[in-house]
Amino acid sequence: MSITRRSLLIASAASAAASLLAARAFAAAPPLEKKDTYKVGFAQTESNNPWRLAQTKSMQDEATARGWQLVYTDAAGSAAKQVADVNSMIAQGVDLIFLAPREEKPLIPAIMAAKGAGIPIILLDRNVDQSLAKPGEDYVTFIGSNFIEEGQRVGEYLVGLGGDKKIIIELEGTTGSSPANDRKKGFDDVIANNAEYQIVASQSGDFARDKGRQVAETLLQAHPDANVIYAHNDEMAIGAIAALEAAGRTAGRGDCLVFSIDGGKEAVQLVVDGKIEAVVECNPRFGPKAFDTAIAYSGGEAIAPVIINPDQMYTPENAAELLATAY
Ligand code: AHR
Repeated sequence: MSITRRSLLIASAASAAASLLAARAFAAAPPLEKKDTYKVGFAQTESNNPWRLAQTKSMQDEATARGWQLVYTDAAGSAAKQVADVNSMIAQGVDLIFLAPREEKPLIPAIMAAKGAGIPIILLDRNVDQSLAKPGEDYVTFIGSNFIEEGQRVGEYLVGLGGDKKIIIELEGTTGSSPANDRKKGFDDVIANNAEYQIVASQSGDFARDKGRQVAETLLQAHPDANVIYAHNDEMAIGAIAALEAAGRTAGRGDCLVFSIDGGKEAVQLVVDGKIEAVVECNPRFGPKAFDTAIAYSGGEAIAPVIINPDQMYTPENAAELLATAY
């Protein structure tokens, strides 16, 4: 091996060891210095649906209102790109990073790299594997909805409805993401406790409208007796309605009940129209709470490890009245 190559290898091993040592040097998540204004990063996971666009707008509006510089990146649905995005924010010397981690495990190295560089991270909307990274220690806190409860609310509403709609197709979100894992757990646990209900198929539609439509089309062919579709977000629910209609079926109480989570205007309108039975809200307007939490952290206030956004539910009883407030 040439002397130059050997020296390069030694240098890169030394820098990897240095960042691990730096990460370990903080017993707690890195502090945020008190300043009049900040340069913060927002590492978004993708921008393929109204929920993501509403979340990004809320963050951008809040940064503008406070006069903070926002370094915004869109990982375009790739966890690997999102890791690179966080590393680039570290290199740009941001004061703090807001991260919406696409999946539970692949973003852990990025969180540790930020910690090693002394940059605090606040997780927004999606969580990470709690056995690999901890709030207060590796990142400041998680701000978002209770995804398990969202799934439970759909399950309990369905069971509470009674009637003959009991054969269920479940459209899961992005594999490995916390909302997909938790929305499934919350719903499936309720169904497991109600023996007359049956989930006949459960498959990922990747939180995307067209993927949801394609998966629903295949599953409806395999299970023509299915009369409930539970989609982990609005986009897949809207895709599923298209699949039902293409199969000559009807979304609604007369044929197949459809449920979703998010609460965008289009989905809430579909509740008003009777095509979606109910939508559990997942509030995407993170800006004010995210920035307030950063300020509180810089002031040395104790930050709760988990900060839950309260969410409502859109049903045939309230959807028309609440439509104007949906994002
Ligand atoms: O993490 C929240 C989920 O991600 C939303 O339900 C979905 O629409 C988004 O892509």
